[in-house]
Amino acid sequence: MPTTLITGASGGIGEAFARELAANKNELVIVARSEDKLNQLASQLQEQHKIRVEVIVKDLTAQSATQEVFETVQSKGIAVDTLINNAGFGDYGEFAQTDGERQIKMVQLNIIALMDLTHKFLPQMQQRRSGNIINVSSIAGFQPIPYLSVYAATKAFVLSFSESLWAENRQYGVRVLVVCPGPTETNFFEEANFPSSFTGKTSKVSTPEEVVRSTLKALEEDKSTVVSAGTLGKIIVNMPRFLPRETLVNILEKQFKA
Ligand SMILES: NC(=O)c1ccc[n+]([C@@H]2O[C@H](COP(=O)([O-])OP(=O)(O)OC[C@H]3O[C@@H](n4cnc5c(N)ncnc54)[C@H](OP(=O)(O)O)[C@@H]3O)[C@@H](O)[C@H]2O)c1
Repeated sequence: MPTTLITGASGGIGEAFARELAANKNELVIVARSEDKLNQLASQLQEQHKIRVEVIVKDLTAQSATQEVFETVQSKGIAVDTLINNAGFGDYGEFAQTDGERQIKMVQLNIIALMDLTHKFLPQMQQRRSGNIINVSSIAGFQPIPYLSVYAATKAFVLSFSESLWAENRQYGVRVLVVCPGPTETNFFEEANFPSSFTGKTSKVSTPEEVVRSTLKALEEDKSTVVSAGTLGKIIVNMPRFLPRETLVNILEKQFKA
């Protein structure tokens, strides 16, 4: 049975990946901070699908967390066939007034942990000449977003980094896919402290299951990138092609102001 490692599997999109892949007879390694949620999910999936589920409780913003995840997986003799770098969070607000420590943690989780786990697991996949890496970006990665400045920049990194790796790794039979969800029904908005005035502002909200389905379909099709969003989301990601950068960022400033 193939093994998939999913970061941020204790809820939202990561949990939906875990449920879908368990149903497809993948063994799992699930990583996040919430021990109770991970253990509960692991017991449920083990019972339901008769698969092995390893739980790794880890704050991926902590120094050497990614090394510890890698060592735990190695020590258990697990070969990771698919790595899903999904853990991430945002933080709404005017940059100068945001909590600086939280912005640093966001960069550590959304960028550093994702990059380092990829760096650790990719060589083994190249050697085996098979494997998949799925990195979760966002439609926010296609353009700057005032009041979500650091978050949008982290997701632009994920998008650019993953697309480069898609092209580098085809020669090794390793697939790299970046998924860019639009607004999705998870704890994301609450975690990011979005003001209540934003409730209902988004035209279509996807379910985590829809994001997972479109991602797995795109992986099968060897795509580099998948935008998993409604029509408005698909228009938004194409706007930078048609508008001058100042015009675009001015429009977004008005849209995202509380
Ligand atoms: N929801 C959306 O509208 C949306 C749109 C575009 C992109 N995304 C992206 O989708 C990904 C998943 O987010 P979601 O929407 O499913 O939000 P979510 O429900 O808040 O889930 C976030 C996951 O990340 C984990 N996590 C957070 N901080 C962590 C840390 N320091 N160390 C380890 N794990 C950590 C959380 O688990 P613990 O709290 O247990 O650690 C949780 O499992 C993120 O990368 C997000 O940027 C979401």
